[in-house]
Amino acid sequence: MSAVAQYGEVFLNTLIVAWIGVAVGTFCLLFFVTAPYGRHSRDGWGPAIPARVGWILMEAVAPLAFLYFFLKGNKSPAPLTVLFLGFFLLHYLNRAFIYPFRMKNSDRPMAVTVAVMGMFFNSVNGLLNGRYLNLFSFRYTVAWLSDLRFITGVVLFFFGMVINLHSDGILRSLRSDDEPGYKIPKGGAFQFVSCGNYFGELVEWIGWACLTWSLAGLTFAIWTAANLIPRALAHHRWYLDTFPDYPQQRKAIIPYIL
Ligand SMILES: NC(=O)c1ccc[n+]([C@@H]2O[C@H](COP(=O)([O-])OP(=O)(O)OC[C@H]3O[C@@H](n4cnc5c(N)ncnc54)[C@H](OP(=O)(O)O)[C@@H]3O)[C@@H](O)[C@H]2O)c1
Repeated sequence: MSAVAQYGEVFLNTLIVAWIGVAVGTFCLLFFVTAPYGRHSRDGWGPAIPARVGWILMEAVAPLAFLYFFLKGNKSPAPLTVLFLGFFLLHYLNRAFIYPFRMKNSDRPMAVTVAVMGMFFNSVNGLLNGRYLNLFSFRYTVAWLSDLRFITGVVLFFFGMVINLHSDGILRSLRSDDEPGYKIPKGGAFQFVSCGNYFGELVEWIGWACLTWSLAGLTFAIWTAANLIPRALAHHRWYLDTFPDYPQQRKAIIPYIL
């Protein structure tokens, strides 16, 4: 395995380009087949596990893969890349280990197929980003700290993270034991879009692409868009079909645009 962790630049770039190709294919496919979890759950996807377990399994592999390929590579990490590692782990601390324990309706079934596909997607993204930051650690000198790309990326990353966390919190507050169904989300980013949490997530990973200024980081942002844009459009249609009083000016995922 450690030989795999030490593969070189040409192999890494080939893998990244191929992975972007898979993201484009997935993006197109998801307009026809909405991933069957949450409100889009349906029969015919095989055995299921509780959603909480699915989320932990899907998301925990990303920081593990990142850590493994970051630490086991053939270069010793530059201090700045350790900061990047911190940002990545911060996101996944929430997504893999806090979010699943706070979600309402967490025993709702999730198809094992969805969890396995999520694990695959997350482990490849973790691998590519961990390996890239190890291999190109030398690019991130102290001068990078004052580079506009880094500063813009950090601002976007944390702005996106705050929107994502705030929006996930709004969605959580809509449910109680007495009223376990769906309601119209209000406030924060939901004033502008049906999927404030997805908007925050997208901004966050665009920030990551910017702050690392790397093809691996860009790949993560592309994959996030590929997953979340078709799903946000499906959520948006669902809201419009379900609630006659749904705010008509709201967009699906990008304020004023989409
Ligand atoms: N980076 C990526 O590629 C990626 C991919 C997927 C998800 N994510 C992130 O993972 C998080 C969860 O994603 P998700 O697809 O599960 O988001 P979601 O569909 O918005 O659901 C989030 C949670 O809120 C509940 N919920 C949603 N809308 C509600 C409403 N109107 N009323 C009451 N409860 C509502 C859902 O319950 P139900 O489950 O019962 O619907 C679920 O527990 C998000 O922060 C998202 O950004 C990231």
